[in-house]
Amino acid sequence: MRIFLAGATGVIGRRLVPLLVAAGHEVVGTTRSASKADELRAAGAEPAVLDALDRDAVLKAVDAAAPDVVVHQLTAIDKTDFKHFDRAFALTNRLRTEGLDHLLAASLAAGARRFVAQNFIGWSNERSGESVKTEDDPLAAAPAGESSESLAAIKYIDQTITTTPGIEGLSLRYGFFYGPGTSLGIGGENVEMVRKRQWPIVGGGAAIWSLIHIDDAARATVAAIERGAPGVYNIVDDDPAPVRDVVTVLADAIGAKPPRRVPVWMARPMLGGFGVAAMTSLRGSSNAKAKRELGWKPEYSSWREGFRTALG
Ligand SMILES: NC(=O)c1ccc[n+]([C@@H]2O[C@H](COP(=O)([O-])OP(=O)(O)OC[C@H]3O[C@@H](n4cnc5c(N)ncnc54)[C@H](OP(=O)(O)O)[C@@H]3O)[C@@H](O)[C@H]2O)c1
Repeated sequence: MRIFLAGATGVIGRRLVPLLVAAGHEVVGTTRSASKADELRAAGAEPAVLDALDRDAVLKAVDAAAPDVVVHQLTAIDKTDFKHFDRAFALTNRLRTEGLDHLLAASLAAGARRFVAQNFIGWSNERSGESVKTEDDPLAAAPAGESSESLAAIKYIDQTITTTPGIEGLSLRYGFFYGPGTSLGIGGENVEMVRKRQWPIVGGGAAIWSLIHIDDAARATVAAIERGAPGVYNIVDDDPAPVRDVVTVLADAIGAKPPRRVPVWMARPMLGGFGVAAMTSLRGSSNAKAKRELGWKPEYSSWREGFRTALG
């Protein structure tokens, strides 16, 4: 098939291009910078240099590519800032709304059959009730801290993807990424925080996190490009776990001292309501639907072994 991959040079795009090429697909991949075009060519993709927020450029590039499937992997995530979360996600939120609209319009105009979009699941889950949620459970009714715009953008992807007529839309809600190139990979921002004991366990660390190795996320994306009914899918591993375990195992995997522990009242001024929720009240996610309907399962079924491979 011909695939138009928006965001081919990103953390996931980079892992996805070789998998698609190896599976026999023809890939047109986007970047904003001409200097990354050679990197894409070397990986076996045809580069398209554009700004995804420029509607005309997107329409033109998708039309020229004449794809069967369009894939949205655009993000622009600034340094982690739990206290001012929407500020750090402002451009990503535009890519998830305006960027999605441009790509969908271009897909329809070019006659693409299928559309696969990157989304996220984790802090967007409702933070009450069952500790592990499925795609049938509603997302958070109220945002934690300063995350209302980011939560709205996540809901926008699910809603738009599943209601746009004329296209088979799939929203892949990836859990927290770890592995090469991510903030939870060697040299990544969050790994370095753990190394310096700057990521404490807050208030018992009972929030449930669902993670996914970046290569398992890429493999799930190939599956969703090739098969599966339209809809929303959680792409997470089999081991939703309290964040206190995540930080403790991470520290152990990199040979760092165990994380400090701090009470909520002490952490709140620094982390804000969003950061406190991320450490104390998040719910995890089930991957049963993706396994059942995409014929995919994570090769790293638990982040516990995945961390040792990716970080040890
Ligand atoms: N589920 C998760 O946990 C999750 C999800 C996403 C990201 N992350 C984390 O976020 C960090 C990096 O993410 P990132 O978003 O900064 O970068 P990234 O993944 O390195 O790049 C995202 C892609 O979007 C493209 N892009 C961004 N803005 C664009 C625009 N206006 N027009 C066209 N293309 C555009 C980039 O292309 P060019 O730069 O080549 O133009 C790149 O291909 C990592 O730590 C990763 O783990 C986590």
